[in-house]
Amino acid sequence: MSEDQEILKQVDAQIADVVADASLPPSLVEALRYAVLGPGKRIRPLLSWHACVAVGGAGTDSLAAGAAVEMVHAFSLVHDDLPALDNDDMRRGRPTLHRHAGEAMAVLAGDALLTLSFDALRRTCVEPEQMLRIIDELTRATSGMIAGQVYDSLGGLPEGLEPEARVVLIHSNKTGALIRASCVMGAMAARGTASASCEPALLAAVTKYGEAVGLMFQIVDDLLDVTQTSDRAGKRTGKDANAGKLTYPGILGIDGSRRRVEELLELALDAITPLGSLSAGLDRWARTLAARER
Ligand code: IPE
Ligand code: IPE
Ligand code: MG
Ligand code: MG
Ligand code: MG
Repeated sequence: MSEDQEILKQVDAQIADVVADASLPPSLVEALRYAVLGPGKRIRPLLSWHACVAVGGAGTDSLAAGAAVEMVHAFSLVHDDLPALDNDDMRRGRPTLHRHAGEAMAVLAGDALLTLSFDALRRTCVEPEQMLRIIDELTRATSGMIAGQVYDSLGGLPEGLEPEARVVLIHSNKTGALIRASCVMGAMAARGTASASCEPALLAAVTKYGEAVGLMFQIVDDLLDVTQTSDRAGKRTGKDANAGKLTYPGILGIDGSRRRVEELLELALDAITPLGSLSAGLDRWARTLAARER
């Protein structure tokens, strides 16, 4: 088993514990497990783990924070797929939660995932002051994600922005905020004298990396919508333009968007250079996410 598979087993066990401990009706438990323990890539907890290691922590310090972000992410996907938002029937190669369990259950499962993410978070073993910073990061990122979804689905962007600035605002909120938080929270969860809690420069490097990778991740998602088959992506593709979404390929074309991906990859890699060999995991994941096909 690869190192990342080993990490994901621990992440999934952590999430499963949080869901099991919540005393919920079996139908809701089934829906939650379907939404958060299904065949997703779990990129966010992997980034938390590698960010924690990059600042001198033990990867296991990041598990609760990574589980919390993954739960917020799963909530965002369940609601993103609802008929009122993107109206999608397929996610991760199988029916979306509202097609599987009904719309009411999907709304409620999203509510529960968001709430339980804070139950996951409180299992992080850090000093109270550091815990408050981690909670603040997750709260602001979740609000950012929701704000980005409003811009994406309902509009209301500030007037007078250039087209690329508009799409940056949408993407860095709806997707970038949670990816940034995955990295920052992972770093903040690191214990020990060399950790990010003691060293603002380490946290600044991880933050810059998270912001670049977060925007890059959604540009690649937009590219996959126009270049990938639904079968391979595990979700409906070719839908953004018809839905009138503001996307990178819509503004810069495919080649222009790929160039932005390369630029953001370079930015991310430069940001973590000062962290040296401890940031090898972050380095590898930035490259993998730039080149991903699903
Ligand atoms: C999909 O996220 C939605 C976006 C934020 C672009 P992922 O591509 O991380 O989805 P899963 O969790 O692996 O299914
Ligand atoms: C999703 O963006 C962003 C969030 C869920 C917050 P998309 O709508 O592009 O994601 P997919 O393509 O449905 O996965
Ligand atoms: Mg959407
Ligand atoms: Mg969508
Ligand atoms: Mg998409």
